[in-house]
Amino acid sequence: MNETTVKKRMLSGIKPSGDLTLGSYLGAIRNWKEREDAFDCYYFMADLHSITVRQNPADLRRRSLEQLAQYIACGLDPEKNVLFFQSHVHQHAELGWVMNCYAMFGELSRMTQFKDKSAKNAENINGGLFTYPALMAADILLYQADLVPVGEDQKQHVELTRDIAKRFNGVYGDVFKIPEPYIPKVGARIMSLANPEAKMSKSEDEDAGRVCLMDRPEDIMRLFKRAVTDCDSVVRYDPVEKKGISNLMNIYSAATGRSFEQIEAEFAGRGYGDFKKAVGESVVELLRPIREEATKLLADKAYLQKVCEEGAQKAAYVAEKTLRKVYKKLGFVAR
Ligand code: TRP
Repeated sequence: MNETTVKKRMLSGIKPSGDLTLGSYLGAIRNWKEREDAFDCYYFMADLHSITVRQNPADLRRRSLEQLAQYIACGLDPEKNVLFFQSHVHQHAELGWVMNCYAMFGELSRMTQFKDKSAKNAENINGGLFTYPALMAADILLYQADLVPVGEDQKQHVELTRDIAKRFNGVYGDVFKIPEPYIPKVGARIMSLANPEAKMSKSEDEDAGRVCLMDRPEDIMRLFKRAVTDCDSVVRYDPVEKKGISNLMNIYSAATGRSFEQIEAEFAGRGYGDFKKAVGESVVELLRPIREEATKLLADKAYLQKVCEEGAQKAAYVAEKTLRKVYKKLGFVAR
């Protein structure tokens, strides 16, 4: 590939604060995989971000490694995507500090996620929770990313990143590429099975609403059997009046490739029981190869170690270039 046809750079991260879910796969990782050839891709485990909420160290370590194995098992080829742990690339923390000094108190105070999380963790509203978006800005700007695939809930943080980058560039010249958020189609937003008004979240949801990538088939079937629907009994797509059913249709459509019309026809005159069972089975089959591959990879710690070491090396190479430029612009004495 020559310089004139350089691929656009894509970057995203997920916090290892809970087990990856069906929502993480359908809403994010599956789309990442589709773009691995067209883009220059960087994906990381946002472990530094995860400690804004207290974590049990042993669980955090296990989940972080599982997340890496699951990225690969979901199809992300480590030769084509740079996969790494955020904490392995020290430039994140360093540029994060700089970003803190260019993010305004007022801006950070307006972040919806900060307001939500501080309401939920009233006993631990720490500084990291407040300055979280400054570290996220560093994650993105270090790599001069063009596109940042995120869910709707993170769009505000990417917008703040753009504002910080523009502010910095305004003072020091063109240091940072201004990134664009890249929001997947609404169809890919998977909601909780227990509460179809809320996103299927890996860390906050109760277990009844969440399907994890490593769940056993019988547990998955049980979750779908209990999924919240409505008291009508028609399988019809209506995301306003029939949120539960529409969410299940979304999942079924994503798992089987069938359109909503086809699904409505398939279940015309049949009850919700049949439909939920079919959705459950489609998800079991969708996740089976991922779970099997991830289990295999987790047994090969040396391989995972090699992947994340190489990933951190490639990432640090790019990150260091940006950090040096920033330090120089700021007036720090060269080492
Ligand atoms: N804040 C994101 C989340 O909560 C995770 C994240 C951290 C991220 N750094 C990032 C996403 C950089 C995209 C780019 O899910």
